[in-house]
Formats: sequence, structure tokens, C-alpha cells
Amino acid sequence: MMDVRLLRPDDSSAVSGVILQCLHEINSRDYSEEIIARMCAYFSPRRIEQLAQERQMFVAAEKETVVGTVSRDGNKVFTMFVQPRMIGRGVGRRLMQHIEDLAAQDGYEYMETGASITAHGFYHRLGYVDVRTTETEFGLNYILRKPLRGRALQQSLPEG
Ligand SMILES: CC(C)(COP(=O)(O)OP(=O)(O)OC[C@H]1O[C@@H](n2cnc3c(N)ncnc32)[C@H](O)[C@@H]1OP(=O)(O)O)[C@@H](O)C(=O)NCCC(=O)NCCS
Repeated sequence: MMDVRLLRPDDSSAVSGVILQCLHEINSRDYSEEIIARMCAYFSPRRIEQLAQERQMFVAAEKETVVGTVSRDGNKVFTMFVQPRMIGRGVGRRLMQHIEDLAAQDGYEYMETGASITAHGFYHRLGYVDVRTTETEFGLNYILRKPLRGRALQQSLPEG
């Protein structure tokens, strides 16, 4: 059983741990050691606490163990990471569905994400389309969007 819930103050170390593990084991295939080290230095537990003040941060938890995280600021997606041993089991899709539903309920017409090289194909699979690329201090980033129109309506329709 997996729950998606808001980040609690005592989750920040676990979330930082999941992100650092992803960066070392997964993203390091696509980015230089220097960029990985910069990202690892950025995503400290303290930074997670700060980010949680600025955005809505969520965790996917299995029996109280954090197995993934994502955050949103309105219709913008940030910090999407899944524990490496849980990759490919639907955790990422579940987290994205959660924040897309919230953005649709808030009336946004589209969702926007900045994707790593590593996650680019994942977002395509979820229906996102490329808008542009950017160079950031963390390397190449793809900006993608997905329409949300009709989603809030679908959710409010009675079943059957
Ligand atoms: C990218 C990431 C978040 C995906 O999470 P996940 O839990 O493995 O994804 P899911 O299992 O929910 O996959 C959903 C669908 O996307 C597909 N998919 C997942 N990653 C993919 C990839 N890199 N390329 C192409 N398709 C991918 C899955 O096969 C699945 O397809 P299906 O519906 O046909 O079964 C995860 O691999 C990760 O944390 N990567 C490292 C960190 C990272 O790069 N984060 C993004 C920063 S922008």
C-alpha cells in the first residue's frame, strides 16, 4: 500500500536521502560528476525544509518509508524523484497524477515541468510535450507542458 501525502517536518532527511540516492545512482548516467555534486550539495535536509515553505511538497510513502517525492507551485512541477529500488513501479505516475489533479481543481489549463535528461522520456509517456530547452546551473533542462483542460470536469462527473 502506497500513500501520497504532504511532506511533514520529520520527512526532510528521508526526502533528501531519496534525492541524493537518485542523483548518485540514476542521474549520474546523464550528468557530469561536477553537476551531480552541485545538485547533491543543494538538496540538503535544510533546503528541503526551506523548499517546503515555498511550494507544496508531497511524498509517496510505503508503510511510513518515503519512496518518492514531488512538489508543485500552482501548475509548475519541481523535485520529482523516486527511490531507485522503486523505479518502474508506478510511483512517479501516481505522484504526478496527484499534483495534476490539484492543479486542475485550482483551474489551471496546463501543467508545466522542467525535466532532466533522465526524466525526459517519463514525461513524454505521461502526455507532456516539449516546449523548449534551457541551460541551468544543473545542466540541460527540458521544459514540457501537458493540457489539464477537461480533467477537473471529468473528476466532478457522477460515475456510471
Ligand atoms: C523519472 C522518474 C521520476 C520516473 O519515476 P517511476 O516511478 O520510475 O515512473 P513510473 O513507474 O510511474 O512510470 C510511468 C511510465 O513512464 C515510463 N517511464 C518511466 N521512466 C521513463 C524514462 N526515463 N523514459 C521513458 N519512459 C519512462 C514507465 O515505463 C511507465 O510507462 P507505462 O505507463 O507504459 O508502464 C524516476 O525514474 C526517477 O526518479 N529518476 C531519477 C530522478 C529524476 O531524474 N527525476 C526527475 C528530475 S526532473
